[in-house]
Amino acid sequence: MEVCKRNETENTNNEVCRYKLHKNLGTSLPTIASLDDVIKELRVIFESDSVNVEYLNYVLKSYKSNPSDWKKYAKFSRLKYTRNLVDTGNGKYNLMLLCWGEGHGSGIHDHANSHCFMKVLQGAIEEVKYAWPSASTEDKELQEIGRTRVEVDDTCYINNSIGLHRVENVSCSDTAVTLHLYCPPYNKCLVFNQRTAQTTESTVTFYSIQGKRVQENTGLDDSTEDN
Ligand SMILES: [Fe+2]
Repeated sequence: MEVCKRNETENTNNEVCRYKLHKNLGTSLPTIASLDDVIKELRVIFESDSVNVEYLNYVLKSYKSNPSDWKKYAKFSRLKYTRNLVDTGNGKYNLMLLCWGEGHGSGIHDHANSHCFMKVLQGAIEEVKYAWPSASTEDKELQEIGRTRVEVDDTCYINNSIGLHRVENVSCSDTAVTLHLYCPPYNKCLVFNQRTAQTTESTVTFYSIQGKRVQENTGLDDSTEDN
């Protein structure tokens, strides 16, 4: 799958991206009024081998968060943030809700070779980006390269060429819910020690799948996880 870069309208195979297609045909862009509309449009977008980042952002930004759309997927844990699978997009992506209790945060992690889109549905999160460690910074503290507060209905994007990041609900009083799209889906990523830059491989797991809690005794829900 190829993901067109921002502001590009054609990929290297000269295949017209969907965003340009809409413009060229003069058709109006679809109305995204619910999470179901997001899911439907994502299914259409990913039928093509060429996915336009700009258009994906349009779909995610257009949706205005409504808890009645997504509360059935939102499963919280007192112990740590949870990952709740919403849709697998015929194997082309994973769409999921992450539920963050007060003060919950991820480790510093990469995103395999995937594109990661995130939208805040409730509360707010802080995203801290870090540079990849290099030979000259080996065994040294990771270098912070950016810090952003992301509010309800805002979106952000990262992949490995941008760097690493960690995500945190810094609120002591409010929970947060975020919508994540990973394409292609992946099941392992690297988690980094902030002080030493050393890495650990982490297996990606789900706390619930399509609103149904994953059984605790499967071992699928309590291992180290990050994304
Ligand atoms: Fe991430």
